[in-house]
Amino acid sequence: MHSIEAVHAFVDKQRRRRQSNKVLHGYPSPVQWLEQQVPMDQVLADRATAGRALRKRVNLYVGTPYCLPTDPDRCGFCLFPSEIYTSHRQLDEYLGYLEREGDLFRDHFAGAELASIYFGGGTSNLYKADQYPRLMDVVRGVFEIPPHIEITLEGIPQTFSHDKLLGMKQSGMNRISMGVQQLDDELIKASGRKQRAEQVFQTLESCEALGLPASVDLIFGWPNQTLDHMVRDLEAVSATGVTHITHYELNVAGRTAFSRHHRSELPSTEQNLEMYRVGKEVLEAHGYRQVTPYDFERQDSELPSSYLYEELFRKPFQTDDQGAIGFDAWGWGYAGISFFFGTPQAPGWAFMNQVRIAEYFDCIREGRYPVMRGFHYGRPDLQLHLLFQEMQGMSVDRAAYVRLFGTDVVEEHRVVWAAFEELGWVSISADTVAICGDGVFHLPLLQNALAHDRNEQIRKRHSRDTVSVPATPPPALVASPAVG
Ligand SMILES: C[S@@+](CC[C@H](N)C(=O)[O-])C[C@H]1O[C@@H](n2cnc3c(N)ncnc32)[C@H](O)[C@@H]1O
Ligand code: SF4
Repeated sequence: MHSIEAVHAFVDKQRRRRQSNKVLHGYPSPVQWLEQQVPMDQVLADRATAGRALRKRVNLYVGTPYCLPTDPDRCGFCLFPSEIYTSHRQLDEYLGYLEREGDLFRDHFAGAELASIYFGGGTSNLYKADQYPRLMDVVRGVFEIPPHIEITLEGIPQTFSHDKLLGMKQSGMNRISMGVQQLDDELIKASGRKQRAEQVFQTLESCEALGLPASVDLIFGWPNQTLDHMVRDLEAVSATGVTHITHYELNVAGRTAFSRHHRSELPSTEQNLEMYRVGKEVLEAHGYRQVTPYDFERQDSELPSSYLYEELFRKPFQTDDQGAIGFDAWGWGYAGISFFFGTPQAPGWAFMNQVRIAEYFDCIREGRYPVMRGFHYGRPDLQLHLLFQEMQGMSVDRAAYVRLFGTDVVEEHRVVWAAFEELGWVSISADTVAICGDGVFHLPLLQNALAHDRNEQIRKRHSRDTVSVPATPPPALVASPAVG
C-alpha cells in the first residue's frame, strides 16, 4: 500500500469484519500453499545444505487424527482436519503408520537435535494409559530424546483420567494442554461436546497432584456468551493456579455449524473487542502476564511454565554462544505441518501432510512421503513470516531483523507503520516496534495490511501459472494444527 490514506481505508473496511484465521501465525497462510507436487527429495537436500550453514534443531509436532463424534459435526466450530473416532483399533493401526512414516524420514533426521515435542490433533488423549510409552517409542525410533526438553500432550477434558495422566508422566511427557473452550455446561452444548466443568477441575487437580504443568484453552465470542460468562470462566480457571491460559477469539469460518447456523447468536466484533480488553484485565489482575495476543502465563507458579514449543516456533532463527541456530518444525503424521525454513539467504519450504486419513495411509503403504501441498518461501515471504512471528510476541526487534535480512523493518513498511502509529496500535522506538492497545486484538488486520502487496504478487503469479485456482479452499485447510 502506497499511502497512509490507503492503509486507513483498508482498516476502515476490515475492522468490523471477523478476521478469520486468528489461530494462524505464519506467512503465507496454508490456504496459499498451492504447490501440489512438493519435490521432497529437493526439500530434504536443501534442509541438509541449510544445516551446514547453521545448526538446525527440530521442534516436533506429532498429530493424532481422531476425535469423538459430536453433533454438530467437528464440535460445530473446529476448522482443523480430523477424523471420527469409532474404535480403539484405529489408534493401534495409526501408530503403525506413524512408525512407517518415521522410517521414510529417519536417515534425513540422523543426528538432529530435538528442541521440544508436541502431541496434538485431533485428540491425542484418546490413547489408553499404556499407549503413551508406545507413542514415545515411536519418536525414539527416529530421534534421541534429550533429557529435560518440553514434551506436551494436548487433549479434551472428558478423556483425561488420572491413570492416563500417570501414563503420560511416566513416559516422559511433562506438560498437558487441555482444550476447554467453555466452562459453562449450557454454553458448551452448542458444540455437542459431552464435557462437564467438573471434568476440567478434576483433570487440573490430577495434574497438580502429579506435578504436571498444565495449560487451558478457552474461547471467547462463543454463541450466546456474555461478558459475565467469560469473566466467570476466567476467574474459575485462574483460581486453580494453572500455569498457562490461552484465550482465543472464536474463529468463525468455512462450513462449520457455527458459521452456518449460529451467526445471529455470535457477539459482534465490537463486543469481542470488549471481551478481549476485559479478559486481559481479569487475567492480569490474577497474576498472569500476556505473552502473545492470546497467551497468558502465570508469574508466580511453583511449576515451570516454559511454553517452549510455541516460543521456538516464534523465533526460528536464534544465536547462542556457539553461533547461529535454526529451529525447523516437523509435523509428523496425519495433517502434520512442517516448516523447513532454510536460511535467510536461501529460504526453504513449508508443507502439509494429507488431511484425509485414507490418503495418508495410501501414501505410507506405497512408500511415498504423505505430503499434500506446500510452499517454497521466497525471501520476501520469509521476511514476512518472521515479522509475523515476532508480532505474535508483541515486539519486533529491529536490530535482529537487520542482522537476518540486512534491511530495517520500519523503513520497509514505513507507510503501514505510520498509519498504525496514528491509530495507537503500534509504538516505534529505535530498538523495537511494539504492538500496543487494541492493535493486539487487531493483529490479523495489521498482518494483512503488511502482507497486502505480497499477497497481490502471489495471487497474480498463480493466476498466470495455473488455469484455475480454487476461490475457496477446502475447510480443512483454513486452520493449521501445527501450532497447537
Ligand atoms: C484443534 S484443538 C485440538 C485439541 C482438542 N481436540 C480440543 O478440542 O481441545 C486445539 C485448540 O484449537 C482451538 N480452536 C479450534 N478451533 C477453533 C476456532 N474455530 N476458533 C478458535 N480456536 C479454535 C481450541 O481452543 C482448541 O483448544
Ligand atoms: S475442537 Fe478438538 S475435539 Fe473438536 S473437532 Fe476440533 S480437534 Fe476435534
